[in-house]
Amino acid sequence: MDLFEAIYSRRTIRTFTGKKIPKSDLEKMVDAGRLAPSATNRQIRDFIVITKNEILNDILHHFHAGRKYETYEDGKFDGTSAIIAVVMNESNEFWKEDGSASAENILLSARALGYGSCWIEGQLRPHEEHFKELLGIPEGKRILLMIALGEPVRWSPPPPKKSLSEVLHWEKYKKP
Ligand SMILES: Cc1cc2nc3c(=O)[nH]c(=O)nc-3n(C[C@H](O)[C@H](O)[C@H](O)COP(=O)(O)O)c2cc1C
Repeated sequence: MDLFEAIYSRRTIRTFTGKKIPKSDLEKMVDAGRLAPSATNRQIRDFIVITKNEILNDILHHFHAGRKYETYEDGKFDGTSAIIAVVMNESNEFWKEDGSASAENILLSARALGYGSCWIEGQLRPHEEHFKELLGIPEGKRILLMIALGEPVRWSPPPPKKSLSEVLHWEKYKKP
């Protein structure tokens, strides 16, 4: 799949069929995350791939139990086959930017390989300490985000996006 096709057709998917993702595909996605830019090329990031049902269920239980995101129309991570946790070193001034660059590469490579994905950060935050313990993550490291992955039950319609003309300014900021 061409890069722009992946960009145009990627959308957040939260309901999956449960079909397993081959290890080689998960490795490709992490490799895409590894190759993302990072401030001064420090690359202070790690990726934990979670595929075991016991751990997936523990994590997903916390997301299911959350109340804040109950309005998400597209289900709540049912049938998730894998989760990639993006682990950052908090001492890195640009830890959020570096981790986010990796995350977008992972989302797009997942789309290119035919998988749906969801960037999970808001729902993760209240449970980060529990997840750190569950995944054996040492002090000083943070879980920036997790990415739920799987074969989509359906490619739901894209959410509304601002038009290009609303956000594009040539040469100078133009008042609306
Ligand atoms: C920083 C960030 C945090 C997010 N946190 C969550 C989350 O906790 N749970 C969730 O279901 N989706 C989460 N999302 C996914 C967004 O809801 C989704 O990207 C947005 O609705 C736009 O839809 P799209 O990805 O299909 O373009 C997050 C996305 C970003 C970039």
